Amino acid sequence: MLPGGRTIPSGWAMGDDMTGSTDDRAESPLWREEFPFTSAGEEVIARRDFTRYLLAASGVFAVGTAGAAAWAGLQSANTGSPRPIVELSEVAEGTEYLFRYPTEDDPAILVHLAGGELRAFSQKCTHLGCVVFWQSDEDRLFCPCHEGVFDPLSGDPTAGPPDRPLSRIDTEVRDGVVWALGVAVGDESPGGSEEKPA
Ligand code: FES
Repeated sequence: MLPGGRTIPSGWAMGDDMTGSTDDRAESPLWREEFPFTSAGEEVIARRDFTRYLLAASGVFAVGTAGAAAWAGLQSANTGSPRPIVELSEVAEGTEYLFRYPTEDDPAILVHLAGGELRAFSQKCTHLGCVVFWQSDEDRLFCPCHEGVFDPLSGDPTAGPPDRPLSRIDTEVRDGVVWALGVAVGDESPGGSEEKPA
């Protein structure tokens, strides 16, 4: 018995919609028509949204990684700017000239080879980073730390533990002055210049 003398129709159970008729119970309530999602559907939607979120997050991460890689590539491609090094007349054939390039923290060596060719390299040995020197009597660049030897034309290692060539610096003679143009990156071609008349 309900307040007001109403009685519970047969067939009703606790929790049923007490405001509708028996026929209405077969239909969806108004709130369900306006918000037609079941809890299971909501779960599916939540899963779908979470998947979208994961995809979006991975996309952002991938773009960020690609951006970082591109930035790192640009950084490694920063090979220094062209600048004058020394008057060519100050570096006789068969001798070397030490300078710093591309920064003041980077020791470098210019070698004026017999025959007039110029070659410039980083002085940093590619084995463990000791400083290489020019040995004119041996016609070679030599690292005293572990007796590494490099070819003065190509910078390639020819003896000892180093297995990579010295970093090459491209050069050019302009009006009798040797210029460093930049540290060569990924180019195996010789990077020196032949002596040109001033
Ligand atoms: S550091 Fe140059 S040979 Fe080892």
